[in-house]
Amino acid sequence: MKVTVNRKAHFNAAHRLYNADWTDARNATVFGKCANPNYHGHNYELIVSVKGEIHPETGFVMDMKVLKELIDVEIEEKFDHKNLNEEVEAFKTLNPTAENISVVIWNKLRLKIDENLELSITLYETPRNFVTYCGE
Ligand code: NI
Repeated sequence: MKVTVNRKAHFNAAHRLYNADWTDARNATVFGKCANPNYHGHNYELIVSVKGEIHPETGFVMDMKVLKELIDVEIEEKFDHKNLNEEVEAFKTLNPTAENISVVIWNKLRLKIDENLELSITLYETPRNFVTYCGE
């Protein structure tokens, strides 16, 4: 019997979507307003989901205090109020799309969560646009 526990978090960040190998015109066509050279912000909503067996002694899949702290330290402190392109190492060479941000978040958290637990990330870039990544 496996149960999924979920923790919501939030960060505000700026980004620019841009492929340096392309002309400005092609970037504007593909990325639209998101290619604006002066950056723009999003209110990102993050849901971290951890799935596993219930521990018989605690009744927990994962202690939510521990999960909260992990998200605070590994994600919010590093991403909140940052310019993702300029200030987050991973995005110096990777376009900070919601897809790529979700993969970077998953990779950071995967290292810190018990390997017997399954991890998946849901990231809302806008209230209507969101992505999911579970390491596949
Ligand atoms: Ni954007």
